[in-house]
Amino acid sequence: MAVGTVLVTGGTGYIGSFTALALLENDYDVVIVDNLYNSSKVAVDRIELICGKRPAFYEVDVTDEAALDKVFAAHPEIDSVIHFAALKAVGESGEIPLEYYRVNVGGSISLLRSMSRANVTNIVFSSSATVYGDATRFPDMIPIPEHCPIGPTNTYGRTKTMIETVITDQVEAQRNNNKKAGKSFDQWNGALLRYFNPCGAHPSGIMGEDPQGVPFNLLPLLGKVATGEREKLLVFGDDYASKDGTAIRDYIHVLDLAKGHLAALNYLREHKPGVRAWNLGSGRGSTVFEMIKAFSKVVGRDLPYEVVDRRQGDVLDLTANPALANKELGWKTELTLEDACADLWRWVENNPKGYRQDPPAKFLEALKAKTS
Ligand SMILES: NC(=O)c1ccc[n+]([C@@H]2O[C@H](COP(=O)([O-])OP(=O)(O)OC[C@H]3O[C@@H](n4cnc5c(N)ncnc54)[C@H](O)[C@@H]3O)[C@@H](O)[C@H]2O)c1
Repeated sequence: MAVGTVLVTGGTGYIGSFTALALLENDYDVVIVDNLYNSSKVAVDRIELICGKRPAFYEVDVTDEAALDKVFAAHPEIDSVIHFAALKAVGESGEIPLEYYRVNVGGSISLLRSMSRANVTNIVFSSSATVYGDATRFPDMIPIPEHCPIGPTNTYGRTKTMIETVITDQVEAQRNNNKKAGKSFDQWNGALLRYFNPCGAHPSGIMGEDPQGVPFNLLPLLGKVATGEREKLLVFGDDYASKDGTAIRDYIHVLDLAKGHLAALNYLREHKPGVRAWNLGSGRGSTVFEMIKAFSKVVGRDLPYEVVDRRQGDVLDLTANPALANKELGWKTELTLEDACADLWRWVENNPKGYRQDPPAKFLEALKAKTS
């Protein structure tokens, strides 16, 4: 029997699909809702190919409360939500801010209202290191701990900050209201997971990131340079105060990140802490030039790049202090960025059309041999 049933919003997307897989591999049942704005239903097939279990899938927009109500009504066994569904392009968020507030903040409010009606009381939320903004504005805040003051420098980061506040207020209010009414209250819990830079793909070579448009994260872009789909990588600024002048980020393998969600969900269910924020990162900072070198190494040749002006809203250093998640969740990253580079290249090299092609037969055979 399943240990629980989790609604995963944005579950056909990159991190959502890997988390759905991790949940199924750890005896949870999974119900996915996604409007496929930036993903493909094929992700559901790949999850099933890898773990032998298929999540339920509904093509639903998170801003559509009535549709969410129907999903909860069809699955009264759902006891928790992991909420990924969002728009996530930092640059675009400054151009169409209302759309970002509507989908990210509005969608989260719809979800919380619908959860409340369905009496679903645990929420794990995809927040982001961008909520911290430029942590170098304070002394001694790199690597960044959770108590670093919040100060996002772009609209996307501000939507994440607002959602964190909305979830905190809702969980606290539900707890207080229930307490006053003499009812049980500690079933209401929230985890605010501040991710650093997710990357990598499944080592099987059949599951990875497959955004609908142009990717804007460093490693997927490097993948496109390696396949020749893009001529070169644009490096935004080499005049930062880092050892080689490029910006520093903390890269975390998506398999480790998925396990972090599982650890947080289990913590909420077991300890009923109210709302807690945890950084999910490795604690290791790498510059853009170091990443180009690491990925070039697995590809086997130097990948071309060009340095251009800094991007507005970018900051020098986003490296996590993951000590709190290490201690409280018993979670830490196990895979390295070299693993992430190798897994990403296996995915990109063998699946140039992403989910718009069949998975390579050699990888399917290897999977079959592993499971039989
Ligand atoms: N990838 C990163 O670098 C990163 C870093 C920090 C935080 N995050 C957050 O993690 C979450 C997942 O990110 P990802 O990288 O997997 O992105 P993604 O775009 O692959 O996944 C988001 C999913 O949400 C879906 N979606 C978008 N709008 C929706 C709507 N209105 N209704 C239903 N579904 C909708 C998309 O179709 C997609 O499948 C997002 O909330 C993102 O902000 C990502």
